[in-house]
Amino acid sequence: MTPAELAAKIDKPIVLLGMMGAGKSALGVRLAEALGLHFADADAEIEKAAQMSIAEIFEKHGEAAFRDGERRVIKRLLDAPPHILALGGGAFIDDETRALVREKAVSVWLDVGLDELVARVERKPNKRPLLIGQDVRAKLEALLATRGPIYATADLRVDVGGGSHEEAVARLIETLTARAAAVIDKTEPLDK
Ligand code: S3P
Repeated sequence: MTPAELAAKIDKPIVLLGMMGAGKSALGVRLAEALGLHFADADAEIEKAAQMSIAEIFEKHGEAAFRDGERRVIKRLLDAPPHILALGGGAFIDDETRALVREKAVSVWLDVGLDELVARVERKPNKRPLLIGQDVRAKLEALLATRGPIYATADLRVDVGGGSHEEAVARLIETLTARAAAVIDKTEPLDK
């Protein structure tokens, strides 16, 4: 199955989820390009809707208000035609958002080990409100411990640690293709 053939089989949004630093946006843009689909980034859409940065939303209104806005924006994005949607790291942890994603999308956990997450997050200037003033490793470790089992309930899991973006996108396409092939052979829906 070519990427174009795979894209033709995709009948609902493909949602990328996982920890901060997992590469949801970076890989999402590339995956969308490879499949000829539109890409949307939930965090960017939240910033657009609120007319302020995520850091400002946390600072001015707090995390609970951010999660409310996040839920509303993701609900809207999930009703758009099939596309690739990158979520912020905490979105799938929200019960209501997770239920919506389950109902309306194929969810893919971008799994990356702790050491690599720490290295990636530390390489970039830290604008992530949950990490400001924190011991980055300890905070990511704690988040991964609580969130990992929830991320693991996604429809698909792809190990995207190590290697280049191109390799990670190839693994994503391979996993989606295998699932699409299973759907054709065994009449399984794309989201199980
Ligand atoms: C968050 C992750 C961020 C952003 C917000 C909260 C989280 O997105 O949504 O800072 O709870 O893990 P990224 O995963 O894109 O960094």
